[in-house]
Amino acid sequence: MPTPHAARRARLLSALGDAVAVLPTAPEAVRNADNFYPYRPDSHFLYLTGFAEPEAVLVLDGRSGKSILFCRDKNPDMEIWEGFRHGPQAAAEAFGFDEAYPIAELDARMLELLSGCGRLCWSLGRDAKFDARVNGWLDSLRQRAYHRAPAPSCYGDVHALLDEMRLIKDDSEIALLRRAGEISAAGHVQAMRATRPGLHEYQIEAEILHAFVSRGARQPSYESIVAGGANACTLHYCANNGLLRDGEMLLIDAGCELEGYAGDITRSFPINGRFSGPQRDVYEVVLAAQAAAIAALGPKVPWNASGDAALAVLAQGMLDLGLLRGSVDGVIESGAYRQFYMHGIGHLIGLDVHDVGARKRNGLWRAYQPGMCVTVEPGLYIRPADGVPAALHNIGVRIEDDVLITEQGCEVYTGGVPKQIDQIEALMNEN
Ligand code: GLY
Ligand code: MN
Ligand code: MN
Repeated sequence: MPTPHAARRARLLSALGDAVAVLPTAPEAVRNADNFYPYRPDSHFLYLTGFAEPEAVLVLDGRSGKSILFCRDKNPDMEIWEGFRHGPQAAAEAFGFDEAYPIAELDARMLELLSGCGRLCWSLGRDAKFDARVNGWLDSLRQRAYHRAPAPSCYGDVHALLDEMRLIKDDSEIALLRRAGEISAAGHVQAMRATRPGLHEYQIEAEILHAFVSRGARQPSYESIVAGGANACTLHYCANNGLLRDGEMLLIDAGCELEGYAGDITRSFPINGRFSGPQRDVYEVVLAAQAAAIAALGPKVPWNASGDAALAVLAQGMLDLGLLRGSVDGVIESGAYRQFYMHGIGHLIGLDVHDVGARKRNGLWRAYQPGMCVTVEPGLYIRPADGVPAALHNIGVRIEDDVLITEQGCEVYTGGVPKQIDQIEALMNEN
């Protein structure tokens, strides 16, 4: 049985035909002096290898069908400082590569590998330094081609193939996404339990991170948004330094990253554990919009159906709440609803929190297929403005879950954190 990564390499190799593909992992990012930001491998590279060390390049040779890794050599001196390195031989054995070589040999070996190869695919345009390196190989090969085999004359973007593959999650990805969803939900539960007036947003952020890290998910999949009161109306708020006030709501948008896979959950709830009338009114609209969006998800359904279903509920809610006047169709057609709901219904999720994959083909919405994972995250953000009822000012509500499209319909796999009003109040008032 091939590992999931080997199976993915085999699929990509067969799609490559007789081309050679070169996939570097992400470079390390210097923070300052000799300190680095936490290392995160390139998602395409991780998808194909499972190999998480920096300074590595995967080469897939469509002519021989071989997977070849270039990685850092063993280095006992550096390993004293920085920890374990596989080195090529152990990496080949542990990760199932046909061949593996020191990264220092990349240039010389690529000239051999590409000599006589007609077509070269790489992630053109992603990393200028790597592009320059590939250009250097091509230049050398062209100079040598007079005496030897020709240089590649056809260049392809390997991203398009990988984006398409990653659109449909395989079983091992689904297992990791489910676990990332469970851990993310646990973070939200811990945060809800800890929330009370008088704390600061960062204290709740600490609860979330504690829940993630203590379950083995060492980092969030994006900066956590912990937004009390009016801060919830800033979509990507992440200062997380405000005071939590009695009578206001808290919006938390946070998810963990587990073995590269992202969770992404939002919950909105009253800081004192009891919804006021206006908070409840707004919340129920968003909850109903999310339910309508999830009900519209399933295989063969066009991508826009779920967002359209949510928008109809939100627009009706805006009219009922006195935020807008007119008809549902009218406020949708004019775009007036965007004053209170200015983002889309969600996105693909996987190795990247906003995952790769084209949602349209030839300008038309594609249909959902089993194995796709998406978020469903409607919201209402009510900034003070003329004509906006004062009781609703500064209420920001978003409710977000992660959903797997199945053969039968769909499955919400982040349900471990409550979102019904009575469940939230019960959790927050437990002692
Ligand atoms: N947290 C990012 C998003 O919800 O899309
Ligand atoms: Mn999201
Ligand atoms: Mn989110």
